[in-house]
Amino acid sequence: MTKYKAILVTGCAGFIGFSLCQNLLKNGYKVIGIDNLNNYYNVKLKRDRLKNLINKNFTFYRSDIKNLNKLDKIFKQYLPKYVVNLAAQAGVRYSIENPKAYLESNIDGFLNILNLSVKYKIKHLTYASSSSVYGANNDFPFSVDKVADHPLAMYAVTKRTNELMAHSYSNLYKLPTTGLRYFTVYGPWGRPDMALYKFARLISKNKTLPLFNSGKHVRDFTYIDDVVEITKRAIFKIPKKNKLSNSTSIVPWEIYNVCGSKPIKLKNFVNEIFKNLKKKAKIKNLELQAGDVIKTHGCNKKTIRKLKFVPKINYKKGIKYFINWYRSYYKI
Ligand SMILES: NC(=O)c1ccc[n+]([C@@H]2O[C@H](COP(=O)([O-])OP(=O)(O)OC[C@H]3O[C@@H](n4cnc5c(N)ncnc54)[C@H](O)[C@@H]3O)[C@@H](O)[C@H]2O)c1
Repeated sequence: MTKYKAILVTGCAGFIGFSLCQNLLKNGYKVIGIDNLNNYYNVKLKRDRLKNLINKNFTFYRSDIKNLNKLDKIFKQYLPKYVVNLAAQAGVRYSIENPKAYLESNIDGFLNILNLSVKYKIKHLTYASSSSVYGANNDFPFSVDKVADHPLAMYAVTKRTNELMAHSYSNLYKLPTTGLRYFTVYGPWGRPDMALYKFARLISKNKTLPLFNSGKHVRDFTYIDDVVEITKRAIFKIPKKNKLSNSTSIVPWEIYNVCGSKPIKLKNFVNEIFKNLKKKAKIKNLELQAGDVIKTHGCNKKTIRKLKFVPKINYKKGIKYFINWYRSYYKI
């Protein structure tokens, strides 16, 4: 049964987008997916994810959110009530190498999404922000009420900018918007440029693991199923105008942390991967990398209170599920 008219999801061939679409389709929603299938990482993985979305309720467009004309046609044809913008140039490190790619997809592309959301009078725009907006903050746990004005890399600049752009549209056009600050998402069908995937690849090939900052980084790793559930609940929780308070704005604009609020030392995370792959640890400790945040630890009290969901999967279970998927995907 199709409960709502179409939900439009950009970045649908990406890790989070694919996982969200899979869940929405399973629950009877009609989904219009957009992705440009760029080659930031292996396109085969994106295509394989898409194969798993084939369904009478799923329509895919290979399109770029920077292409306003094509995007306009898609909005016009489907008149989505709910839009979820997950398409972005992701990754902190690559933003040091190629900042322009981030401005183009994350700022120009997002502006197109905002303008079309207003033009076609959607009910709610939900979009991906990131824990990296907390940057140089060291007031743990990070809370959405706290300042997020000290980004350490251009990726974070674009994500914080998205939140501010959304705020201005929520004000000017009364467009309800919700930004989700995702904290290091991991799990099956994950991103090959992220730690867990990279480590699994090296460890399974018996290679030495280069561990930046000697593995002393701390991350609030968040399992994909929890992320999908929170994202789905956020889509249907339309922000309203608020009375002005310290933590919110008067316009229909909302921000949530998406995290388990249980930070783990990277070293412990890595040991768990070795254990699951049944390999002996071979590690080369390295210095801290430029642009890296040393610790992330989010506060998820507001997310739990408003979206009524407590993240369920601890890192030991999550790594096990990922490694099971990894083994079956690569047939090892
Ligand atoms: N995975 C995480 O830990 C994490 C953490 C914080 C924020 N985020 C954000 O969540 C969103 C999804 O992340 P992900 O991990 O699934 O990344 P991903 O790279 O796997 O997915 C993004 C998808 O968007 C597509 N895309 C990129 N630019 C596009 C454009 N201009 N037009 C159309 N499609 C485009 C890519 O091809 C890709 O399939 C991103 O906005 C990312 O910045 C992710």
